[in-house]
Amino acid sequence: MCGIIAYVGEKQAYPILIKGLQRLEYRGYDSAGLAILNGDLNIFKTKGKVSDLKDFVKDKNVKGTIGIAHTRWATHGEPNNINAHPHYSYSKNLAIIHNGIIENYALLKEELIKRGYKFTSDTDSEVLIHLIEDILINENVKIGEAVRIALNQVIGAYAIVIISKNEPDTLIAARKGSPLVVGIGEDDYFVASDATPIIEYTRNVVYLEDEEVAVIKKGKKLKIWNIKNEHKTPYIQRLEMNLSSLEKGGFEHFMLKEIYEQPRSIRDSFRGRLDTKKSIITLGGIIEYQQKLVNAKRIIIIACGTSWHAGLVGEYLFEDIARVPVEVEYASEFRYRNPVINENDIVIAISQSGETADTLAAIELAKSKGATIIGICNVVGSSIARATHAGSFTHAGPEIGVASTKAFTAQVTILTLMALIIAQEKGTISKSRFQQIINELEAIPEKVERTLKTDNQVKAIASKFKDVRNFLYLGRGYNFPVALEGALKLKEISYIHAEGYPAAEMKHGPIALIDEKMPVVFIATNKGCYNKVISNIQEVKARKGIIIAVVTEGDTEVKKLADYVVEIPETEEMLVPLLATIPLQKLAYHIAVMRGCNVDQPRNLAKSVTVE
Ligand code: G6P
Repeated sequence: MCGIIAYVGEKQAYPILIKGLQRLEYRGYDSAGLAILNGDLNIFKTKGKVSDLKDFVKDKNVKGTIGIAHTRWATHGEPNNINAHPHYSYSKNLAIIHNGIIENYALLKEELIKRGYKFTSDTDSEVLIHLIEDILINENVKIGEAVRIALNQVIGAYAIVIISKNEPDTLIAARKGSPLVVGIGEDDYFVASDATPIIEYTRNVVYLEDEEVAVIKKGKKLKIWNIKNEHKTPYIQRLEMNLSSLEKGGFEHFMLKEIYEQPRSIRDSFRGRLDTKKSIITLGGIIEYQQKLVNAKRIIIIACGTSWHAGLVGEYLFEDIARVPVEVEYASEFRYRNPVINENDIVIAISQSGETADTLAAIELAKSKGATIIGICNVVGSSIARATHAGSFTHAGPEIGVASTKAFTAQVTILTLMALIIAQEKGTISKSRFQQIINELEAIPEKVERTLKTDNQVKAIASKFKDVRNFLYLGRGYNFPVALEGALKLKEISYIHAEGYPAAEMKHGPIALIDEKMPVVFIATNKGCYNKVISNIQEVKARKGIIIAVVTEGDTEVKKLADYVVEIPETEEMLVPLLATIPLQKLAYHIAVMRGCNVDQPRNLAKSVTVE
């Protein structure tokens, strides 16, 4: 949420900042701005996208070798030119960019107003820069120290970068709750919300920890303190990311590219972990805690959004084959409802970004009660990956489209591997069954490839229903989370209201919605409750609803009833979500494109939700 990029060095800052903002635009896109120092400290900002900012600065002087830039997802104050970042301090000697929320901003603002400060925006961020300036003047300290003192008065979450007219070679960066990474170039430094805008310049990075303040000075070593004034040694890590994974690679949208990447991303999730010849699964990142996982009396899965849907698939998997009770919790509910949790519990936290504030807070809560936390994250070096005791990365590669696609199937793949490890160790499935499942898992990428070829059918369905106002998605068993995920994809990017429901629950409410205008998507594959789902289809048919069904290749029964059918290859019931999700991603995608929606940057959403 909100993207931050800053630069200090020998190069011109502007091209680096603009390109960085474009890379980070998936984090927020309601306004954008930058500040460049070249004797004067000039701020340029505007409502809208990074392209609007580019147009806005076309005839302006943006020369300078130090600058900060921001793309915003509004929390305090509507998205407009004034509330866009950066914000000046009162004297205009300082400027700040901020991601996060200052919770006690109202109190601080009141104090500052009493001391004569005037505010131009409605943002909490402006409060922070005035506070820093107030300390700078009254305490007669350097900017880094003023920031440190100010942060001791702040309650909330922040990733900030500050630039000062009086210290023209220095950036000050600090974080708590919101991520921030410093890139170390040959003779320059970069600061960003994540590594994506840094990777083309340097692979050496330092991830700041909570409550750390970095003084980043051209030509000098990076210095880090925490807000208690304890000196910290920067831990330099090497980035393994591939630059081409940040480009669209010929696809019209990142989302489409990411949908098509799934044969590869699923394979990458089990590559080097699944050995079908030796009948072994190894998840190196959890080995130390594997026995705890195997002996767990219960597993709690916490996540948000699409990751929560993957968690639901996990529940079916763990209970079905590993015979361990599972609870799947929305992280945002879990953290505030005084959950019963203790040192015998295993908590699996799932997050694509590894930065979701609610998931992070739920982890801290569970940790404080002694539970063991296992992470399933996509972003290496992310806050959640670092906050967990152990974990497995999904290795799906950077996901840029705001609507999650390949991360979901990668998460489900990892959950499948985990469930299989427990099942094998506990002996809850036979050797031959284990072998059957892992053989089938290995064949999934090729089956995803085949599923992707249903594009024309899905497109034809999309063109028929692009203008409807409601959709219903129904599935049972492993296909219930698939229904939820299908409905979420559609609402996220096409703004059509869609609900996912367990097919049998339909008669307890949603059935009232069904008439000849209501499209109902059934995930009706040939295993599990197939016959029961057919009965549910008949119930919809009897009320003249329109039936779109995802079925197994060669199906004859559902075909007799459905108005539209998309076939997916035959597979193990527990692996169906890896295939059945694909046409639903495509359906949402095509409908959104046909409606003229911005698929990669849907309104009001953000990829990485670092506020609660
Ligand atoms: C946001 C994104 C969703 C994502 C959810 C959880 O709402 O738009 O796509 O599923 O956050 O994010 P996480 O990074 O924790 O998986």
